[in-house]
Amino acid sequence: MTAPLVPARLELAPDGTPVSERYGDVYHSIAGGHAQARHVFLGGNGLPVRWRGRASFSLFETGFGLGLNFMATWLAWRSDPQRSGRLEFISVEKHPFSAADLAQAHLAWPEFAPLSTVLCAAWPELVPGEHRVDLDEGRVVLRLLFGDACEIMASLDASVDAIYLDGFSPAKNPELWSPAVCRQLARLVHPETTLATWSVAGSVRRALAAAGFEVARCPGFAGKRQMLSGRYVGSDSAAGRQERARPADFR
Ligand SMILES: C[S@@+](CC[C@H](N)C(=O)[O-])C[C@H]1O[C@@H](n2cnc3c(N)ncnc32)[C@H](O)[C@@H]1O
Repeated sequence: MTAPLVPARLELAPDGTPVSERYGDVYHSIAGGHAQARHVFLGGNGLPVRWRGRASFSLFETGFGLGLNFMATWLAWRSDPQRSGRLEFISVEKHPFSAADLAQAHLAWPEFAPLSTVLCAAWPELVPGEHRVDLDEGRVVLRLLFGDACEIMASLDASVDAIYLDGFSPAKNPELWSPAVCRQLARLVHPETTLATWSVAGSVRRALAAAGFEVARCPGFAGKRQMLSGRYVGSDSAAGRQERARPADFR
């Protein structure tokens, strides 16, 4: 039997940044959640350019958290006259927030207000499994996988164009960056799939390379020297080429 979910509780650091007591880490860079999403996750995957002119574009994220990356992506997509016909965003979350906590946290980003209202109204019950949320008359589909990534990703059937890796720090949340999770990511890719993350930890680079991702360091967000951006090249090529990758050419 599947264990019941343990929801997250909204707690704020003295400077107002949302924190997780369970993991002892912050939900986003103290330099700004929206700006971080744009620089690291959209920029690191060559967005919005890569979705232009496409019928559909799909993403996978580890760690939905407050949904900042999702709303930053949705807002950028909505604002882009050349956006893809559809946007699919799949995200896994072990400790989801309640709709009330999400709405409260989102007040810090007035630019997200219209999206937050719609998202929180459609927010599913906190029970394990997949929940599909249709937004913008079905042109945006959010697939929320509530459960532990290490277990629930194995039953996911998808082929995605871009991947956001956004667990808490690998030192505090190693299971979400594990070789097993990276191998699951490699099941969700096609030859053009890219990924981005703010972490440059050696354990993350090694797990990604072993799973077939070629990664390159590029300038990080707000005072962080580096982040990773990469693409899927297949496990034979990536393991041998770890760190010799040229910077991804979509940046
Ligand atoms: C840094 S936060 C994500 C922030 C989020 N991407 C956003 O835009 O607001 C990391 C998230 O990963 C989730 N998480 C940690 N371990 C997990 C696991 N094993 N499976 C699924 N989610 C996990 C945490 O509960 C937390 O919400």
